[in-house]
Amino acid sequence: MLDDVQEVLVSEQHIARRVQALGQQISADYRGREPVLIGILKGAVLFLSDLLRALTIHASVDFMAISSYGTGTQSSGVVRILKDLDHPIAGRDVLIVEDIVDTGLTIRYLLDNLRSRRPASLRVCVLLDKRERRQIPVELDYVGFEIPDRFVVGYGLDYAERYRNLPFIGVLRPEVIRDQGGR
Ligand code: IMP
Repeated sequence: MLDDVQEVLVSEQHIARRVQALGQQISADYRGREPVLIGILKGAVLFLSDLLRALTIHASVDFMAISSYGTGTQSSGVVRILKDLDHPIAGRDVLIVEDIVDTGLTIRYLLDNLRSRRPASLRVCVLLDKRERRQIPVELDYVGFEIPDRFVVGYGLDYAERYRNLPFIGVLRPEVIRDQGGR
């Protein structure tokens, strides 16, 4: 698996340090409140579990699974909910935890969908921001790293359901993408 990686963009140590800092910032910002962290499956699972451990306040967790009708490495913005939240969020302080914002279409859909459920507040915490690719403007409250326009894998992010278990954020060798179906 490691042979498939061309380059490490964000190392395991950098991720760990940044997630700790985000956890401290979020704990300070939400002091005296009890937010619900909504992890977006499956990409945000590793980030969410580390972020949760970095919080020093009470917090609950819920999950949403969505599928974006995109092919390959492009998303279309047409989103389908595969798994909805277990609990209502009306009146709650909600923090969406997402792996990456690329065009912004997915997070825009999530924000609109969750806002209609009348939370007390709604913010976004994203590990990676591929800002150059943005098609719709979205305000991101907490950002781990800004990254260039490259297709990345690892730390929860996949290519054809593989590589989520890499402990760093990396870029695959081009021939790997070709050989695995050229999504
Ligand atoms: P957006 O709707 O274009 O912002 O895309 C967001 C979703 O596309 C993310 O939640 C990921 O699932 C996926 N995605 C975008 N860029 C990458 C990438 O570089 N690697 C893996 N998944 C990505």
